[in-house]
Amino acid sequence: LSASTIARQNLMVVENIPSVRAEIGAARSRGARIGLVPTMGALHEGHLSLMRAARRECDFVAVSIFVNPTQFGPNEDYLKYPRDLARDLAACDTAGVDLVFHPAVPTIYHDDFNTFVTVEGLSNVLEGACRPGHFRGVATVVLKLFNIVTPDVAFFGQKDYQQQTIIRRLCHDLNVPVDIRVCPTIREADGLALSSRNVYLNPEERRVALSLSRSLHLAQELVQAGQTDVPRIRQRMHELLTASPLVQVDYATLIHPESLDELVSVSGRCVAIVAARVGQTRLIDNLVIDP
Ligand code: PAF
Repeated sequence: LSASTIARQNLMVVENIPSVRAEIGAARSRGARIGLVPTMGALHEGHLSLMRAARRECDFVAVSIFVNPTQFGPNEDYLKYPRDLARDLAACDTAGVDLVFHPAVPTIYHDDFNTFVTVEGLSNVLEGACRPGHFRGVATVVLKLFNIVTPDVAFFGQKDYQQQTIIRRLCHDLNVPVDIRVCPTIREADGLALSSRNVYLNPEERRVALSLSRSLHLAQELVQAGQTDVPRIRQRMHELLTASPLVQVDYATLIHPESLDELVSVSGRCVAIVAARVGQTRLIDNLVIDP
C-alpha cells in the first residue's frame, strides 16, 4: 500500500447515489447520527472547521464535493473553479470524515432534469441581485444532497450569510427534517475571510482584499460609537473600499439579520455585509454587529 492509501483507509469515497444510500443506511441502522458538510471542494480551514463541528456532534460524517454548475452564471468561474480532489480527500481524511460523496455532474443532473427550488424574496437581493439564478442552483443542489444523504444535521459557514439564511428558510418552509448549524467564518491572521477563490488573488490584490473585512469593522465601530444612520455608514464603507482602484463594490451595507432587508437606521442586531471585485476576483464577507 502507498502512504496515501494507508492514510485514507477509513475514508470511503463514493460516486453514485445507491452506494451513498447503502452506507448511510448501514450507519443509521447502527444508531449513528449523520452529519453532512456540503462543499464544492478546494477545501480550506473554513471547511475543516465545519467537518470538526460535524465530528463533535455526529457519529458519521459525510462530506459532499461537487462543483455545482447550476449555481454559476454563464460568465462566472465554473470551469476554472479550483479542483484538487487528491488534496481534498487527504484533508477530509485528516479531519476524520467517514464518507466523501463525489458525484459526476450527470449523477446529480440527469438529461431531462427540470425541477428547481427557489426561496422567493431572500434569493433576489444582495448576491441574488448580482448573480441571478445563483440561489436557485444552491437551493436545488442542497435539497438534492439532503435527499440523497438524509443527514440529521448539516453544517454551513457564516461566511455565506445569505446562503445559510436561505437554506434555513428552505428547510423551514418545505419541512425538511435537517438541523442546520452555522459555524463562524474562519479568517487569515490579518482578517481576510478564507475562501476557495482567494487563490485567484495576486500579492497586490491579496493586500487590497483586506479592505473588505476592514470595511465591516469600520461599520461595527461606527455602530458601536452610536451612529445609526445607514446611508452614512454605507458611504464610509464605500470610501474605504474604493480607496484602491483595484476594488469594484457590488454592495457594502447593513442588513436585517433574518429578512436581509437593507436597513435605513440601526436599532438592534444587524449584519454588515460586503461583496466586491478585487481585480477579477469576486469576494464576499460579513460581520454580525450588536450595537
Ligand atoms: O457553499 C458552497 O460551497 C456551495 O454553495 C454549496 C452549499 C456546497 C452548494 O453547492
